[in-house]
Amino acid sequence: MIISFGNIKGGVGKTTTTAVLAHLLTNSTYDKKILCIDFSPQGDLSSILLNTYEYTGDESHTISDVLFNDIEVDDAIQVLTDNLHLIPGDWELVNFNKNAITSYNKDYQKSLLKSVLNSVESVYDFILIDTSTDMGLILDNALTASDGVIINSKPSYLELVSTIKYAKFLNEKTLSAGYHFKILGTLFTHDNNKSSEVVNENILQHANDLLPFSSSIYEDSEIRGMKSLNEVNNFEDYERLLIELNSNLNINKNPNKEYTFSLSPRTYKMLEKMTKHNGYEDISEFLDIWIQAFNIEKF
Ligand SMILES: Nc1ncnc2c1ncn2[C@@H]1O[C@H](COP(=O)(O)OP(=O)(O)OP(=O)(O)O)[C@@H](O)[C@H]1O
Ligand SMILES: [Mg+2]
Repeated sequence: MIISFGNIKGGVGKTTTTAVLAHLLTNSTYDKKILCIDFSPQGDLSSILLNTYEYTGDESHTISDVLFNDIEVDDAIQVLTDNLHLIPGDWELVNFNKNAITSYNKDYQKSLLKSVLNSVESVYDFILIDTSTDMGLILDNALTASDGVIINSKPSYLELVSTIKYAKFLNEKTLSAGYHFKILGTLFTHDNNKSSEVVNENILQHANDLLPFSSSIYEDSEIRGMKSLNEVNNFEDYERLLIELNSNLNINKNPNKEYTFSLSPRTYKMLEKMTKHNGYEDISEFLDIWIQAFNIEKF
């Protein structure tokens, strides 16, 4: 399964989330084989992962080399551990539009990454793509290749306004030819107890576009500015997110078709509000629709 992390807004935790989830999914609990694609010219994902795993191998080629310089994909993969591989990004990604337009016919310009990943997809359980805020052909390439998209955001006003626009943009894309991804949900990072009711109300009103995860990632002084994942003692919030992804929002349907909940009171309250807001009588009825929308059974 290929998953992208994105938002038109910068600094909302796209890279951090990609790195942490890759790290956690490869550990002994999940034991998944992961390929990370650093699809951002800043190369932040590459820096964090290379620092964390103290990679000392040869300097490899980048994803730009694979797409535009005839380098074979296998020659660009850096093996950080048996389970965690990386194709680095580089500054040349700022010229993605120009390079795609001059090197490829219009019919292929949006599916360059997809065709590269097709050849290695079967080797991995998940391919995780860290994107930048660029909305041009580089984003089209990430979306065309993806089965799922996680929207990263912050629970504060300006981030929320951009996120709603981005979510609507993605929802429109899902209806266009050439895209097959599902929006897996919006993940709020940098959460803190000041994230006000106003923000929650906004999330609520746009729940159909945003599909917020019930887990959010709290502001964490160890995560802030980290150069390596080793600087952080634990990633409890991210562990919770993985449990949510893994068990369809912690909700198990019993044989009587009733739902049992293991949600926080805050989340339960929010679900109650969302149920009413969407015109449903009871939460179970609403959840049927919600779970369908998430379509995360592949996890
Ligand atoms: N939960 C958190 N608590 C505190 N700081 C965080 C948290 N998550 C991320 N950060 C910090 O916020 C900053 C932005 O995070 P990150 O680089 O992951 O965002 P991004 O969306 O990838 O940004 P860009 O748009 O520049 O690519 C980084 O300094 C990071 O360490
Ligand atoms: Mg980033």
